Amino acid sequence: MELLARILILLLALFIIKLVVISLLFYREIKEAQKKDPAAKSFLEILLLYQGLQAIISYRFAHFLYKMHLYFLARYLSQLARFFTGIEIHPGATIGKGLFIDHGMGVVVGETAVIGDNVLLYQGVTLGGTGLEHGKRHPTIGNNVVIGAGAKVLGNITVGDNSYIGANAVVIKDVPPDSTVVGVPGRITRQDGKKIEVSLDHVHVLDPIMQSIEELEKRINKLEEK
Ligand SMILES: CC(C)(COP(=O)(O)OP(=O)(O)OC[C@H]1O[C@@H](n2cnc3c(N)ncnc32)[C@H](O)[C@@H]1OP(=O)(O)O)[C@@H](O)C(=O)NCCC(=O)NCCS
Repeated sequence: MELLARILILLLALFIIKLVVISLLFYREIKEAQKKDPAAKSFLEILLLYQGLQAIISYRFAHFLYKMHLYFLARYLSQLARFFTGIEIHPGATIGKGLFIDHGMGVVVGETAVIGDNVLLYQGVTLGGTGLEHGKRHPTIGNNVVIGAGAKVLGNITVGDNSYIGANAVVIKDVPPDSTVVGVPGRITRQDGKKIEVSLDHVHVLDPIMQSIEELEKRINKLEEK
């Protein structure tokens, strides 16, 4: 009985040490999460419950193994993290400090993706390739970029510092710094704080079927008028 109590105390001590080490090593990531998630109530909540943080911790280990050319182990760790968090970060990706992945489920970060400092990714974001090409085929994301839920940023393109990618946008061209991009395909709607007046026919852009139906409706109306 006494032995069991000692083992439990030892495990508890190890767990507390682990939490302290993670808090110190990932302090910036936790603070960024606290700053960017209005729903986050405490440091401890993020430390223990946020999958985004767990995925980044696993990525750091996997990336280290990848750098040591232990590709199988690195990939094994990243797939394990994907199983538990729903977030798939390839160990070859390069990620800066202060990344926050909010909610997380369905996030995919490709092998040659580069992410700058203080970036925020929401659930369902893909930083992917456009086809079967080799070499640098994933995007480079600047500092302080926010990528909205479900957005796809594809190919070897660059998203400039301080840019916003709207939810569900599909971005396949470079984005200059300080820009906001929305829609499919992604269009710049704001640059350096100024609104860009482009035709943002989101309904039609996002739904070509509706466009066809509306065209047909117009033609039927014309025929009926005759
Ligand atoms: C793009 C975004 C950053 C807003 O940027 P903004 O510059 O403040 O944009 P505005 O609200 O001024 O909208 C500009 C235009 O883009 C449209 N728009 C905004 N977000 C859009 C989106 N995700 N997809 C398509 N169109 C969008 C607006 O309707 C508006 O169109 P209009 O000029 O024809 O009226 C924001 O809408 C967004 O998508 N944020 C992501 C948030 C997210 O993913 N949250 C998940 C929480 S779980």
